[in-house]
Amino acid sequence: MRGFFITGADTGVGKTACTAGLAANLKRRGFDVGIMKPVQSGSEKTGNGLVSVDALYTMTVAGINDPVELVSPYRLEPPLAPSMAAQISGVNIEVHKIEQAYRELCKRHRFMLVEGAGGIMVPVTGRFLMADLAKMLNLPVLIVARPGLGTVNHTLLTIEYAKSRGIQVAGIIINGFNESEAGPAEKTNPGLIEELSGVPVVGIIPYDADLDVDTYKPGRITELVGEGMNWEKLSLPGPEGDNGNAMDINCKGN
Ligand SMILES: Nc1ncnc2c1ncn2[C@@H]1O[C@H](COP(=O)(O)OP(=O)(O)OP(=O)(O)O)[C@@H](O)[C@H]1O
Ligand SMILES: [Mg+2]
Repeated sequence: MRGFFITGADTGVGKTACTAGLAANLKRRGFDVGIMKPVQSGSEKTGNGLVSVDALYTMTVAGINDPVELVSPYRLEPPLAPSMAAQISGVNIEVHKIEQAYRELCKRHRFMLVEGAGGIMVPVTGRFLMADLAKMLNLPVLIVARPGLGTVNHTLLTIEYAKSRGIQVAGIIINGFNESEAGPAEKTNPGLIEELSGVPVVGIIPYDADLDVDTYKPGRITELVGEGMNWEKLSLPGPEGDNGNAMDINCKGN
């Protein structure tokens, strides 16, 4: 295992915030981390073309510098599911192009964090879903979920679907936990999810009013993920790995 596919119980749950915080902390722990946002819908239109907000946020927070064509090969403007955003934009998403970019990044880094779009059953192209992408890259998934009412159902459904597709679920990260406003649901959800799924909740990341992905404000995301993750519960290889870079395991399908 040389990385994680970061998916969510829903869109807007904090995948990017958590990916950025994880990348920054793994780097601090000695990992050579690369990131990828294979398809960004809702890209920002600038004078230099379409920008992947998620990839740029994560690379900025974690201090990662790779060519945008590798990190986010498909940058689409409509804020829709990737397959639909591509269709409207007249773009043909080719999954082998995503795989090629991933292989290149694997040569550059020992550990990869790949952020999906939306949730695990969101279509990348045609009937090829985010779950198929995680499988193609041979990565276990980390599921980012909301803290409040409704998250037990969304998270358990995501876990069940991943398992039914033969995808390893490495853990759940509850993001946006607000201690002062937490009621019975927020307080009991992590334990209930663990008990019903058998999957560990590997982190509870607090709410931070100073954080905003869309305007590239990091807030305290690095510190919050550093403190909020239960690193012992998360199965990680040694920082140096055992035999080479991320590609050795993920891209050769071991
Ligand atoms: N811990 C947090 N505290 C406060 N705001 C947060 C936190 N995590 C995320 N946010 C905010 O919530 C919104 C959604 O977060 P984020 O962009 O990380 O979600 P996402 O799951 O990556 O969404 P998408 O499906 O669009 O990729 C953003 O505006 C972000 O700034
Ligand atoms: Mg995102």
